[in-house]
Amino acid sequence: MPRQLLNLFDYELEAAERMEPAYHAYYAGGVAENLARDDSRAAFERLRLRPRVLRDVSSVSTECTVMGTRCDSPMMIAPAAMHKLAHPEGEMATARAAKRAGVIQILSTMSNSAVEEVAAVGHPLWFQLYVFRDRAISEDVVARAEAAGCQALVLTVDVPALGLRENLARAGFEGAPHLDFPNFSGPGAGGDVVHHAAHTFDPGLSWKDVDWLASKTRLPIWLKGILRGDDAAIGLEHGAKGIMVSSHGGRQLDTAIAPVDALPEVVEAVDGRCEVLVDGGVRRGTDVIKALARGARAVMLGRPPLWGLAVDGEDGVADVFEKLRFELENGMMQCGCRTLKDIGPDLVV
Ligand code: FNR
Ligand code: LAC
Repeated sequence: MPRQLLNLFDYELEAAERMEPAYHAYYAGGVAENLARDDSRAAFERLRLRPRVLRDVSSVSTECTVMGTRCDSPMMIAPAAMHKLAHPEGEMATARAAKRAGVIQILSTMSNSAVEEVAAVGHPLWFQLYVFRDRAISEDVVARAEAAGCQALVLTVDVPALGLRENLARAGFEGAPHLDFPNFSGPGAGGDVVHHAAHTFDPGLSWKDVDWLASKTRLPIWLKGILRGDDAAIGLEHGAKGIMVSSHGGRQLDTAIAPVDALPEVVEAVDGRCEVLVDGGVRRGTDVIKALARGARAVMLGRPPLWGLAVDGEDGVADVFEKLRFELENGMMQCGCRTLKDIGPDLVV
């Protein structure tokens, strides 16, 4: 009997069966003992909700804005490299699903579809930036993202080196030579994201590069991969317009603090000066409530859209977001929340 796809965990199991094992290992993996990856999820499971009753929830809205962009729900597609490992339409299918779901897509520098092509879908699109040792290439990438109509730049700050991806060695992942990275030209190594992370990304990145980036673009800059209040505050001093609390899906530093546990400290440090997003282990509508209760404006999802893509292309990604939106709506009703504004810190312990 075919597996029922009732929730995101069902998508995870189904995707694991359908994907090429080495490609799946790249998507699924964390680093070392996978403690950071698994604790991102476990941290949500540790939190408990304190529901309110008798609040007339006959009409509930999950609508919100993120940096002024209206979204159908407080969810976004986190940047992830190489969507074509899951489906031949790759980021194009993800983009069409984002449009249907009414959520913002963040396109990775390491996507297999070009930013111009993805932007032509006509949905809210942000661009994630990896800064290369060769700054001229990065300046060109930024100019292309801006010209294509991306609404924000997301600078990923948690990859000074790729984490200890032992699972990739065990799975024999060597990239995908038939796929390429059309957002940049120059350095070779075709579809090998690991090679690029080791040889092309700049380990010398520092706070002054945030100033450099701000001087090269008129787009607002978000910093992705912040896990401390002091770093968030420094980021704002360097002109960042938003903070993304993330441990890269537990793919970088093993035993890093779970993002939802780091969130309160960051929210306090930022003190209302910008919006804060969080990702890592968001799988249930109640997780979204917990993240918002702790001060996030919205959550981002990394692996679940990839599972949707692997299972059923555009429709699979759209269904992943519809399922999560439905769960969120149900959780809000159970908690006595009519709008996202009703989700406050008192709801979670
Ligand atoms: C990522 N992530 C990521 N982040 C980024 O800034 N640029 C990138 O290119 C990638 N690539 C990437 C590939 C894959 C396969 C995964 C799973 C993740 C990290 C991603 O944006 C996000 O932070 C995490 O995936 C969030 O955790 P969950 O939702 O996967 O638990
Ligand atoms: C990854 C990088 C490339 O997590 O972001 O695989």
